[in-house]
Amino acid sequence: MCGIIGIISRQPVADRLVDALKRLEYRGYDSAGIATLEAGVLTRRRAEGKLVNLAKRLEDAPLRGSIGIGHTRWATHGAPTEPNAHPHATKALAVVHNGIIENYRDLKAELEAEGVTFESQTDTETVAHLVTRELARGLSPKDAVHAVLGRLEGAFSLGFLFNGNEDILIGARRGSPLAVGEGEGEMFLGSDAIALSPFTDTVRYLEEGDFVVLTHDGVEIFDEHARPVTREIRRAVGKAFYVDKGNHRHFMQKEIYEQPEVLSHTLGAFVDMTTGRTRIPNGQSLDFAKVNRMALSACGTGYYAALVGRYYFERYARIPCDLDVASEFRYRESPLGDVDLALFVSQSGETADTLASLRYAKAEGLQTAAVVNVQESTIARESDFVLPTLAGPEIGVASTKAFTCQLMALAALAIKAGVDRGVISPERELELTRILAEAPRLTNEAIRLEDRIEVLSRDMATKRHALFLGRGFSFPLALEGALKLKEISYIHAEGYAAGELKHGPIALIDETMPVVVIAPHDRSFEKTVSNMQEVAARGGEIILVTDAKGAASGAVEGAEMIVLPDMPEILTPIVYAIPLQLLAYHTAIQMGTDVDQPRNLAKSVTVE
Ligand code: AGP
Repeated sequence: MCGIIGIISRQPVADRLVDALKRLEYRGYDSAGIATLEAGVLTRRRAEGKLVNLAKRLEDAPLRGSIGIGHTRWATHGAPTEPNAHPHATKALAVVHNGIIENYRDLKAELEAEGVTFESQTDTETVAHLVTRELARGLSPKDAVHAVLGRLEGAFSLGFLFNGNEDILIGARRGSPLAVGEGEGEMFLGSDAIALSPFTDTVRYLEEGDFVVLTHDGVEIFDEHARPVTREIRRAVGKAFYVDKGNHRHFMQKEIYEQPEVLSHTLGAFVDMTTGRTRIPNGQSLDFAKVNRMALSACGTGYYAALVGRYYFERYARIPCDLDVASEFRYRESPLGDVDLALFVSQSGETADTLASLRYAKAEGLQTAAVVNVQESTIARESDFVLPTLAGPEIGVASTKAFTCQLMALAALAIKAGVDRGVISPERELELTRILAEAPRLTNEAIRLEDRIEVLSRDMATKRHALFLGRGFSFPLALEGALKLKEISYIHAEGYAAGELKHGPIALIDETMPVVVIAPHDRSFEKTVSNMQEVAARGGEIILVTDAKGAASGAVEGAEMIVLPDMPEILTPIVYAIPLQLLAYHTAIQMGTDVDQPRNLAKSVTVE
């Protein structure tokens, strides 16, 4: 996911553009750049890699100017090189872009046929030439941008700076968020409230198809038909939430430590803690009494949360659930006739595949709900019911606190659904919500095992592969634990249902293959013991994540143990996620990888 910033001011802007880009680093990127008008002349500085390289470029050759745009690029079309870094420019303008222009090849061929030459491999540069052509035809900047927007296909947000024109910035959004911030005699454009938080908390979010003209003292927003529209001012949470690492080495560690607190915030949204009764947040009229079948869909860690959610809804509410990764759900053309509610899970609320699946479900006439962490996101805005996780901004690319808050929300919702459907009695509801209220304490106890887990990570860091096994509620955790490890330490890891070991993966077992087994002493523990014995018999190293009873069972000689407190089954997915997060985190540190911004990854995948 790329990051966009624009500032029109009467003060120098270069440093503030870079400062805002630093706040967008969490999105993941591999090059960056800014452009300003120096005495009216369009000038750029761009650099491959991290922002420190751009800052060095600016130190060697400062940029003056009181109007400018900036960008952090996560490469989609074209390698992460300086020529492909934004802003892209012609003699007439500079442009920054987040998203994908799906028909750029046709547009580029049309321009090349007119003799236009390109300096980059990007889809973005096509937009720069198209708007330049409209300006050459005599259109104003606003009309030129509007004319070009009608030719573009895909999901994108854009920011434009015009050579020789220090009085106007233009932004546009379709499928990728863009916010407008208002200051005193200066205006701002940014991908989200966090980018704008150093400058203002007076923020408006553009809606689908909007474009905006910013001057020093004014904001004019237009819809896709160029009709003036107004968008409500939202006090931005970015300022309040602007995060730094505190006394932690990485955002990921800070966010792991925040889980007890944000779990209690999220629980409070779904349970009235004075009565112990479950509720749908913000008085929304979601009634599960009319829900006899659900379809769940998400991506990545969100999908593993949805997988836990299926166990929850089927176990506690007796609602059968279909489940699929969003990139498959949207194309499977699954008959959804008997589905009453489609539920999506997303931290960012901007994941392209999940958003497309939401739109598919709506087109099929389904009611839609989203468990989402960013309340002003596109998925939140387009869902019939918004079910908030109150994890606060999650900066580390590897999702941690958002995941456990998604599980908390799903657990509470499953209880609410069971109550609505009459399969959970009022007494049982109180018992279950009291159990959920134990999550902050138990996750805090799990976090205190960090030193023990750090020791185990040293051996894990010497491996090239790992297997994660779990049954029942722990099976989705095996998948999530494998994803955490692979995405930040780059060690190949796979998660499996423990019962599947014999159906192939056991061929992988030898002394080079560590096996992490997630197994509280529950109804399937004994079955998993056999799996572990099969692994041990072949020289596989075992890390067993269990509770005191599981540890005391002497299940497997020589297994390394991570022993968690005893807890009812419904809490195990939430609390057992913690050691898996810490194992991945410390292994990544041993490996020397970029823990918060792992290679090739973005915080939110807003392109297909
Ligand atoms: C999780 O650690 C990854 N960063 C990734 O799988 C992520 O969960 C996925 O891209 C979905 O993102 P979303 O929750 O913002 O939709």
